[in-house]
Amino acid sequence: MASILSKQFRLRSNILATKRFIPLVFCVVLRNFSQSIAFTLPNSEMSMRYVDYEKPGAIENLSIKTGAIPEPKPSEILIEVAAAGVNRLDIYQRKGGYPPPAGASPIMGVEVAGTVAAVGADVSNWKIGDRVCALLAGGGYAEYCAVPAVQCLPVPKDLSLVEAAAVPETFFTVWANIFMRGRLQRGETLLIHGGSSGIGTTGIQLAHAWGAKVFVTVGNEEKGEACVRLGADGYVNYKTQDFVQRVRELNGGRGVDVILDMVGGDYFAKNLELLETEGRLVQIAFQEGNDLNVSCRSLIMKRRRNFDNTADFLLTPFVDSPISFFVVVALYLFLFYEL
Ligand SMILES: NC(=O)c1ccc[n+]([C@@H]2O[C@H](COP(=O)([O-])OP(=O)(O)OC[C@H]3O[C@@H](n4cnc5c(N)ncnc54)[C@H](OP(=O)(O)O)[C@@H]3O)[C@@H](O)[C@H]2O)c1
Repeated sequence: MASILSKQFRLRSNILATKRFIPLVFCVVLRNFSQSIAFTLPNSEMSMRYVDYEKPGAIENLSIKTGAIPEPKPSEILIEVAAAGVNRLDIYQRKGGYPPPAGASPIMGVEVAGTVAAVGADVSNWKIGDRVCALLAGGGYAEYCAVPAVQCLPVPKDLSLVEAAAVPETFFTVWANIFMRGRLQRGETLLIHGGSSGIGTTGIQLAHAWGAKVFVTVGNEEKGEACVRLGADGYVNYKTQDFVQRVRELNGGRGVDVILDMVGGDYFAKNLELLETEGRLVQIAFQEGNDLNVSCRSLIMKRRRNFDNTADFLLTPFVDSPISFFVVVALYLFLFYEL
């Protein structure tokens, strides 16, 4: 990848380390992005460079193309991109395994940081020149991208744009899945599969700061030690150890309350085995397959919940209209005397 991009891009593969954010994410930094463009609103004569893949496949298929700068809709802003995060999703897309959602840009890249170059007519909380980072449906591997204003965050002063580009995808995903769906509480125990991933390293830091105990699975000892330095309470080398057994050993014989899983396959049943009563399993990917063979009895017996972050398995009660307590009592009395 570096050999292809080095002509026009600078590839940064460092671990981004600040006191607050240490996501292990590679950042593609757009070199030479034209800071001097006098921008009003994009027109068809203004063009930009972007990363394209000729056809799905290997990294060698990536190349630099030129195309029109996207025009922001009324609710969108146009970002002049300084840096874009590289995520597993981009790799799936390059290989042909992830078609972008309908209406989204076909260009790769789901998170960026940069400066606001133009604002749509309905946008009032952003102005040209603001430092911004954003989560996108696509289009981030480009010199410009248009994104709904609601998906943007201001970049704090002490965060560089390269660091900020590594924030949206992992922090939004972790917050939505571990804290909102998984409802992790202070004092509970969390297991993250893939602890050294972008998602994992973010999850460790947030859950640790939240006051939870965190265990992770990793592919080697070096990654495990890195996770411990980030705040994990222990790790399992999934290539040499059984994670159900090892996590119980690390946790004084107890299972865990929340699991964030990106592996799937035979991990699904093992995750259920490890969950404590009322435990929550949040599934964000199925790297090892999504054909599951599992006993639903274990779900019921320990009142475990499984969440997929696109479709909850939980049934939500539907309340048509509330009825007064007195009406209910009257109905019972009526039924009692009738029957
Ligand atoms: N649903 C969503 O909203 C959403 C959002 C973001 C990401 N994701 C998904 O979350 C995953 C992580 O994304 P990322 O960008 O952070 O990826 P990444 O940095 O490339 O990490 C992938 C991770 O998967 C781990 N892994 C692979 N096989 C494993 C196994 N058998 N047991 C335990 N861990 C295993 C790897 O561990 P080792 O390196 O230690 O082997 C690695 O840490 C991806 O699958 C991505 O598609 C989903």
